[in-house]
Amino acid sequence: MCGIVGYIGTQAAAPIILDGLAKLEYRGYDSTGMAVFDGNKINITKAPGRLKVLEELTHGGESMPGHVGVGHTRWATHGVPNMTNAHPHFNKEGTIAVVHNGIIENYLKLRHMLEEKEYQFVSETDTEVVVQLLDYYYRGNPLEAITKVLHRVEGSYGLGVIFADHPDQLFAVRKDSPLIVGQNETGCFIASDVPAILKYTRKVYYVENQEIVRLRQDHMHFYTEDEEEITKEAVYIDWDSNAAEKAGYEHFMLKEMYEQPKTVADTLLPRLKGNDIDIEELHMSNEELEAVKKIHIVACGSAYHTGVTGKYVIEGLARIPVEVDLASEFRYRNPILEEGAMVVVISQSGETADTLAALRESKKRGFKVLGIVNVVGSSIAREADNVMYTWAGPEIAVATTKAYSAQLIALYLLAMKMAQAKKTISGEEFGAMIEDLKKIPDQIELLLGNKEKIQRFANRYIGAKDIFFIGRGIDYSISLEGSLKLKEISYIHSEAYAAGELKHGTISLIEEGTLVAAVATQPALYAKTISNMIEVKARGAFLLAVTNEGNNEIEKAADYVIYIPKTNDYFTNSLAIIPLQLFGYYVAVGKGCDVDKPRNLAKSVTVE
Ligand code: G6P
Repeated sequence: MCGIVGYIGTQAAAPIILDGLAKLEYRGYDSTGMAVFDGNKINITKAPGRLKVLEELTHGGESMPGHVGVGHTRWATHGVPNMTNAHPHFNKEGTIAVVHNGIIENYLKLRHMLEEKEYQFVSETDTEVVVQLLDYYYRGNPLEAITKVLHRVEGSYGLGVIFADHPDQLFAVRKDSPLIVGQNETGCFIASDVPAILKYTRKVYYVENQEIVRLRQDHMHFYTEDEEEITKEAVYIDWDSNAAEKAGYEHFMLKEMYEQPKTVADTLLPRLKGNDIDIEELHMSNEELEAVKKIHIVACGSAYHTGVTGKYVIEGLARIPVEVDLASEFRYRNPILEEGAMVVVISQSGETADTLAALRESKKRGFKVLGIVNVVGSSIAREADNVMYTWAGPEIAVATTKAYSAQLIALYLLAMKMAQAKKTISGEEFGAMIEDLKKIPDQIELLLGNKEKIQRFANRYIGAKDIFFIGRGIDYSISLEGSLKLKEISYIHSEAYAAGELKHGTISLIEEGTLVAAVATQPALYAKTISNMIEVKARGAFLLAVTNEGNNEIEKAADYVIYIPKTNDYFTNSLAIIPLQLFGYYVAVGKGCDVDKPRNLAKSVTVE
């Protein structure tokens, strides 16, 4: 989603801004722009399309000299991705420039108010009201104008602002849209995400809601929206910046798929204590776990899919009812949260607007929220009562793979811990499950080793129109993710169906040669799934099956079979998803798609 980078200091601002925006490219965007003060005036360059266009237009930033500036990658919400709608936006005289992430919800009202005062708008964006309103309130004191604007705008925003009258200052403002500031010996930085400035500094400050930062070359001051100065603690970021490089892989997605054995081990092993599980961050005793009567899992996208798996695993193992909700639905459906309920939000980025809102809604109602989060220090990590981190490291490809796999492990551990507290599984079963968990990293490695076979198979489907995924129980949740992986990066229409539901509609879409991928990893459901496979085969489908080693029976129905190694029935998702990820990846590569940055998608969806 949109990215913001700003700099003020002794160095040329434009190359730093371009470099920072490049680090945020993976988040998804469709236009770019930059504003730099050259000593006399603010110069602005904008362009639809990729960042390299902006780099070419500005000769790598050289044609935009100056020591203070802001830049932006825009993911269109209000108005098409063209040059006019791209950020920065500016006032009529070009003396104030603004970049914005988020949505100004009352922009129409403000726009009408300003139009009545003879302000002319050039773009279709909500952002333009911010800069026009700044112009309206500005009487020579930038901080005062900003606070007045904050009292008028509703919605979410991360803002970077420069004023031609005050070129020694750069402003950062935040509400419900991530924003950090940082400092090194040359100057100060603003960014919507840490990787943008990691190369320059590891000393950062998280800007909280309704806070304003005034950055100068050598210091920063933090203010409330009422202009009261506040102090803040710096956070030292100790990530490995190499993690954000491709390391010889053709795509980040492939690299991240190959990192899965490690991310699974990193999420799992520190929480295994001998033959026991210790989830320290839960801060819940066995008695408290036992008292949980219901679990609400809330998430978006692939994280929602892990939640669907979590439902089957937690209900199956711990016999606790689980409701899984899409965060965008949960937040507005007035959910019934009863005494004894526990809310679990799952998010790789920790910044997804709807998931964050669901967390806040639950807390407002007095319920404790556990966050399963990948990005340390993200909004969800900071606001959840307890945080269980997935140690997947930075994930760059828009289509998640390694964070998804790490989330599954976190949910298995939670389910087992709950089952132990509720005494719904025996010590023997528990011990055997721990042994199976420990084998998952190597088993994933083994499946990844099969990539050529899957690539050859995938090449046959580059021209496919529709591809369906079916499964029952946990296999249905695997199908959901397999289908999403394929369609989001290859642009081939795909649907996942609960295998038993197929004949209630979707079966009419099956034509001669349509590929149907059947996931069958649950022995208790083999026979049922095979009947559904035979039904589609009778209508011309070509059947791919993903099943457990030893289930050779399936070859009677399937045209092509991928076997996964033996594991506990509750953990099969971790293995069955690997060939499906590879399949989606190779179909997209074969079609020549931009695998890491699929069209229209964003890595972290910070607007609702
Ligand atoms: C976007 C990403 C998905 C991700 C979803 C939820 O749509 O493209 O890969 O699953 O957001 O993101 P989160 O960061 O909350 O897990």
